[in-house]
Amino acid sequence: MTFETVSPADIPGSPLAKAFEQPLMLGVFLNLQDIRLSTVPTTNTWTFDYNAEVVRKADDLGFELAFSRTQWLPKGGYDGESSLDAFVALGAMAAITRNILLISTIHVLYGPIHPLHLAKYGATLDHISKGRWGINIVTGHRAIEHEMFGWDRIEHDTRYELASELFDVVQRLWSENENYSFEGKSSWKVRNGYITPKPLFGRPVLVNATGSEAGIAFAAQYSDIVFITSPGGAHIDSALETLPPHIANIKDAAARAGRKVRTVINPVIVSRDTERETLEYANAISNNKINGAFGGYDSDAHAWRGRKDASHKQGLGLGGNIEIVGTPEQVVDQLLALKKTGIDGVQLGFYDFLPEIGYFGERILPLLKQAGLRL
Ligand SMILES: Cc1cc2nc3c(=O)[nH]c(=O)nc-3n(C[C@H](O)[C@H](O)[C@H](O)COP(=O)(O)O)c2cc1C
Repeated sequence: MTFETVSPADIPGSPLAKAFEQPLMLGVFLNLQDIRLSTVPTTNTWTFDYNAEVVRKADDLGFELAFSRTQWLPKGGYDGESSLDAFVALGAMAAITRNILLISTIHVLYGPIHPLHLAKYGATLDHISKGRWGINIVTGHRAIEHEMFGWDRIEHDTRYELASELFDVVQRLWSENENYSFEGKSSWKVRNGYITPKPLFGRPVLVNATGSEAGIAFAAQYSDIVFITSPGGAHIDSALETLPPHIANIKDAAARAGRKVRTVINPVIVSRDTERETLEYANAISNNKINGAFGGYDSDAHAWRGRKDASHKQGLGLGGNIEIVGTPEQVVDQLLALKKTGIDGVQLGFYDFLPEIGYFGERILPLLKQAGLRL
């Protein structure tokens, strides 16, 4: 990066600075797509109305973050036909929420998307949401997605180089008070580019989801939050063992760049009042899994490699990057242990979103406050 940028985290009173005050940030990891992991029935649907209800509930409960994955898959998708685009859907949620940060996962290289588009759309959503909108920068790890856009998959580290060039220019456009021109390695160019209004707190929130050294180097320069996976896979014991050096590596990389980044991870919470009920439910989901969910499309991502390492305890395949299974008290113990690994926030997923986020609010959230994980 060739110029100084301001993170909203450094501006007192910004929604991001407020979110960072929590000992453990809470997020909801929305399902904007048909994903059926198991034949155990759920209320989940990909629809905007369903997800709007979930995000409003999260906002009412005081959650700081809402995310969703997004993908460009051919006919068949993961295991259903429909998926909403996160850029548009999370942006629209600005109008129906009050405090929660809305982070749209965007494939920033596909198209290619022009920096003027990203800067203008971003500034618009920043003003609509009053500084609560941000981008989860993803560069596309599946060959099939790149091919849909008419080219072969761009090499792994080159993707981060192109994303750096793009965000150097987008950040210029968010901050420059004069017309700005640029020509570089990317196929787009800018000639006397200018956008108003400028974002309210320097720029929208920037996040990237990664597990590789190239992705971490990118995050160290550009991101406020890094969305990570457990290098040891989904079992909580493997996660607790492998997360501390991984998180330390990310924070050190940011410190070397003179910056501070926070880390978040996405556990699925499976919880009932008693241990017996909880295990029955978790086993029912696991024993009735639908083979082929998530499609098995070719990926060159580093982030999920630990899942294939048989030396780590494996999870039950309940859907999160970590599985937190237990009574409300046991869930809090596991979240306390996760916090000790250095994690700053959790993006929660639920097997059955609406009833289970309600249960979380009633039974688990009060215990998190008692445990000092929530203000
Ligand atoms: C927690 C997490 C969530 C992600 N969500 C998405 C997503 O919604 N869509 C997508 O195309 N890629 C997603 N990715 C993939 C990353 O954007 C990236 O392409 C992939 O991890 C390869 O980069 P890496 O080798 O640096 O990890 C996600 C990655 C992580 C770690």
